[in-house]
Amino acid sequence: MGNNTFNIWAIKLETVKLWADLKNMPDENISVLLDEKRVFKPSEKFVNETNVKQWMDEHNIKNLEELHKKAEDREWFWKEISKDLVEWYKPYDKVVEWEAPWVKWFVGAKYNIVHDALDKHVKSWRKNKVAFIFEGEPGDVQKLTYNDLYIEVNKLANALKKLDVKKGDRVGIYMPMLPELPIAMLACAKIGAIHSVVFSGFSALAFRDRVNDCEAKVVITCDGFWRRGRKVYLKQQSDEALEKAPGVKHVIVFKRTGDAVPWTPGRDVWWHDLVYGMPKECESEKLDANDPLFFLYTSGTTGKPKGIIHAHGGYAVGTAYTLKWVFDLKDEDIWWCAADIGWITGHSYIVYAPLILGATSVIYEGAPNYPQPDRWWALIEKFNVTTLYTSPTSIRLFMKYGEEWIKKHDLSTLRLLGSVGEPINPEAWIWYYKYIGNEKCQIMDTWWQTETGHCVISPLPITPLKPGSATRPLPGLSADVYNEEGKPVQNAGGNLVLTHPWPGMLRGIYKNPERYKETYWSKFKDTYLAGDVTRKDSDGFFWIQGRADDVLNVSGHRIGNSEVESALVSHPMVAEAAVIGKPHEIKGESITSYVILKGHITPSDELRNELREHVGKEMGKIARPDEIWFVSDVPKTRSGKIMRRVIRAKALGKDVGDTSTLANPEAVDEIGKAK
Ligand code: WTA
Repeated sequence: MGNNTFNIWAIKLETVKLWADLKNMPDENISVLLDEKRVFKPSEKFVNETNVKQWMDEHNIKNLEELHKKAEDREWFWKEISKDLVEWYKPYDKVVEWEAPWVKWFVGAKYNIVHDALDKHVKSWRKNKVAFIFEGEPGDVQKLTYNDLYIEVNKLANALKKLDVKKGDRVGIYMPMLPELPIAMLACAKIGAIHSVVFSGFSALAFRDRVNDCEAKVVITCDGFWRRGRKVYLKQQSDEALEKAPGVKHVIVFKRTGDAVPWTPGRDVWWHDLVYGMPKECESEKLDANDPLFFLYTSGTTGKPKGIIHAHGGYAVGTAYTLKWVFDLKDEDIWWCAADIGWITGHSYIVYAPLILGATSVIYEGAPNYPQPDRWWALIEKFNVTTLYTSPTSIRLFMKYGEEWIKKHDLSTLRLLGSVGEPINPEAWIWYYKYIGNEKCQIMDTWWQTETGHCVISPLPITPLKPGSATRPLPGLSADVYNEEGKPVQNAGGNLVLTHPWPGMLRGIYKNPERYKETYWSKFKDTYLAGDVTRKDSDGFFWIQGRADDVLNVSGHRIGNSEVESALVSHPMVAEAAVIGKPHEIKGESITSYVILKGHITPSDELRNELREHVGKEMGKIARPDEIWFVSDVPKTRSGKIMRRVIRAKALGKDVGDTSTLANPEAVDEIGKAK
């Protein structure tokens, strides 16, 4: 392994140790479960009733091994799988066409994902089935049936057409967790426009960069929303972003809070005015299955986020397949993916996959611990949620609040649990299993990325589980762990790679094919580099340790070290900055920064706060550094590259290794003193 990768892995082990230290948990059962290293198996009854088992029976497949084996015939597998999930307007000629690194799935098919998400349901018994149960933070509840959703989407789609939005045009969406967010996304998809959703927790400037990069013609936002009992004024933020976004011709504003908002006549239009009187029918555009559905920006190792492109057909099949098999989704389920729609998890598992499967899902607007730490448990009880999908950060937060908040509620409807976004430490896994799942729910620890579109390494509900491992690649998907030379390795840390194309695979980075090739396909020939350090054990189980590159994972959110550094340096008093991640008991990783001020500036606590807020303004609150240290220098190579690896090792009190290549070894001591 390269030094860099190895080092991060060491830090991850340290993180696990930290969690273990934190363990002073009085609960003896937890320690017993942990020590036992037992494999957690689902009950036979449960297995027999799963979607995957049913499919295996229908295909005469006796066990999981055989299933994996059969699925290696990918053409056959995806043909069989897609048959049950999607309806093409015109059938495909070929399942997959792979000219590395470019892929096409279901080649020749005519398709629109909205047909499967809505149009087909309103012609079936599901027409009046509830699609979304929405609860606002103040407690307001709204239930939308498939037919309600269909009508709202059609009206908005017609309205977008009236604003001259056409197939292939980009629409920027800056909205919180309201049902209107999926409505806006589906309306774009319906007419073949490409949506680019920006997480509502991102700052105005972050929104501006993304809107400009994707050259959006129209923006959809809302007046504001509720967060921790307070209102967030999103329209103001959107206006600030659009001061320098000349390409945006119209802004559609949904009214959520009803407060007065700044208004630009001629550009701004209220959602309700716009859709008033619009026809309730709008035919879905018959697209090519490989036409783009959306862009979603994600952080990489440079300061500029990447606009990841996903396409209609493959993405529909991949997301629906994984939701149906991994989470065993059935018509009776009440599904709750407690992520934000502004991230890929929400795109795939709140919007598209559940709708394709005709499910009923919960959408919750607010903070998990508002007004009290049992808000989520109250929601599960109130709506009879059967499946919960969340992140290790949330689980650790609830662990901190203690079990008494859970015991107030009846969570007996839960039958399956999920985790995503970051490695789940065994401690949190066991706690989730014991207190939320009442020792009867299997936990699906799903590994995937914005780029993969859907789960890739994940258990099925019939898989025996080892806490902390995402188990194995799902049937039809293939991953491995390679050393630096590109050789598969076992029982040692290495690079996580995906060895064959998969249906939900990204189709590129918008306007940047070179970066696409360089980032994912240049290290190993025709093999996708995921950017995570991983170990594969003797049973072939994958243990994902964390990022191998300069990307932080804070509360399951990807943030590029260099993005935060650029934000700091954009402050007029800052000359240079270096940013590293440190293990954090709840967030997984916290952001620590070392800042060199311009010559004449004196460090102060005031300035420290100002810089924190400055990063918040540039990027969004989640990217604000937890620690800011003022230093006179940071370790650099002779060519001037900041050595984050050395800084991190020093900050964590570890061996910094060979510093002979440094131009300024004395800067290392200064990092050590910044405590
Ligand atoms: C991390 C989120 C360990 C990983 C869906 C990956 C995980 C990055 C897991 C992608 C998991 C996601 N175990 N690590 N189960 N799931 N990750 O694009 O580092 O926001 O590369 O997609 O999150 O983050 P992204």
